[in-house]
Amino acid sequence: MTKNRTSLHGQWSSRWAFILAATGSAVGLGNIWKFPYITGENGGGAFVLIYLICIACIGIPIMMAEILIGRRGRRSPINTMRVLSREGHHHPAWQYLGWIGVLAGFLILSYYSVIAGWALAYLFRAVGGVFNGVGAERAGEIFAALIEDPERLLAWHTIFVVMTMIVVARGVQGGLERAVRFLMPSLFLLLALLVGYAMSTGSFSEGIRFLFTPDFSRLTPAAILIAMGHAFFTLSLGMGAIMVYGSYLPDNASVTHTSVVIAAADTLVALLAGMAIFPIVFAHGLEPGAGPGLIFQTLPIAFGNMPGGWLFGTLFFILLVFAAWTSAISLIEPAVAWLVENRGMTRVMAAVWAGVVTWLTGLGTVFSFNLWADEKLFGMTFFDLLDFATANVILPLGGLFIALFAGWTLSRGTTRGELKLGETGYRIWYILVRYVAPLAVSAIFLNVIGILRFG
Ligand code: PFF
Repeated sequence: MTKNRTSLHGQWSSRWAFILAATGSAVGLGNIWKFPYITGENGGGAFVLIYLICIACIGIPIMMAEILIGRRGRRSPINTMRVLSREGHHHPAWQYLGWIGVLAGFLILSYYSVIAGWALAYLFRAVGGVFNGVGAERAGEIFAALIEDPERLLAWHTIFVVMTMIVVARGVQGGLERAVRFLMPSLFLLLALLVGYAMSTGSFSEGIRFLFTPDFSRLTPAAILIAMGHAFFTLSLGMGAIMVYGSYLPDNASVTHTSVVIAAADTLVALLAGMAIFPIVFAHGLEPGAGPGLIFQTLPIAFGNMPGGWLFGTLFFILLVFAAWTSAISLIEPAVAWLVENRGMTRVMAAVWAGVVTWLTGLGTVFSFNLWADEKLFGMTFFDLLDFATANVILPLGGLFIALFAGWTLSRGTTRGELKLGETGYRIWYILVRYVAPLAVSAIFLNVIGILRFG
């Protein structure tokens, strides 16, 4: 009975279309904007190592779990969890996992679109030749002028939300697939070029050492939590985005192979971004821990001073906007799929509703860089709090429950049938998803909670 289930929303035209779309979801601001700045804030190499371990031992098995659950249910995450728990006579509360995902999607998209707005603004600055010959100081001023102006941020945020909703309204094949096809290869090429520039700065080896030589004395429990949270964020895990994409995956595609390809591509982009940015940071005496503005304060220096910088800068910010766009679409897809299935809305109406809620929530982030910059809760601005709560709490928690559902609740016959792995491969996945991932996530959570409580 489950074999013939089809999705209401259509299907990817091929396995490659899925890989491209899921990679489009995974590769985004998380890789190019967030990975470098949190690596800078958390001391470099040791943080990167923990992040890589989390990708391999927690991220990939949970990604496989999300895809197989999605494909099995072939509905929005909320309904997939409902159907699969009913089918296996499991507790109906599992569907709340889908709800948490929808909430997380809205919250993340609300600030994601503000940062994507920065990329849009920078695209226009690049086209206008604003970065010509800039140094570190001028780059800092350009960035400050942008984020201190709520009206500008609001305008770019609005444009990005509208862009996202237009693609979402057009649906799986019309909207999502086409956008990703040429994007990924071009992004790789441009990042490789930037790494080439970084080699010419004279601080390349310092940048590489910072990224890849672990200094465990700099590793705090909070840094471990952030590295784990980022593994979920960067792979789009823990909130149903990959699950809903999996629900459009043809039956004959290999879940394992696609997961490994997606995770590898995602990791490569992040590492290339780090290798491009840290040499520039050190060459210009900038602060690696400068925070969310890091790439916006470093890359203009590269583009402003390399031959052909106008062209490459323009191309780079176009690609960054595209990368953010294809991720943004997936953040809202679980909610939109649910509105279509359960509220009988058209995709267009669902996209409009989702857009309005996202836009309104995003105002908090817009103002947290200027009007509300001094309003803090637990020492964090609205944006910091949203980012922390989603990436480091909600996504890992969602991922934990997805792992528990796949490893303990679904029957082995079901998971084995979906994964179609050899005996050894299946056992490795099973141990990772049943024991390793849940224990690791719980241990990291408990460690931080313990420190918060007992100092
Ligand atoms: N993975 C995206 C990035 O790295 O930018 C962000 C993201 C997309 C997170 C979709 C979660 C998600 F469901």
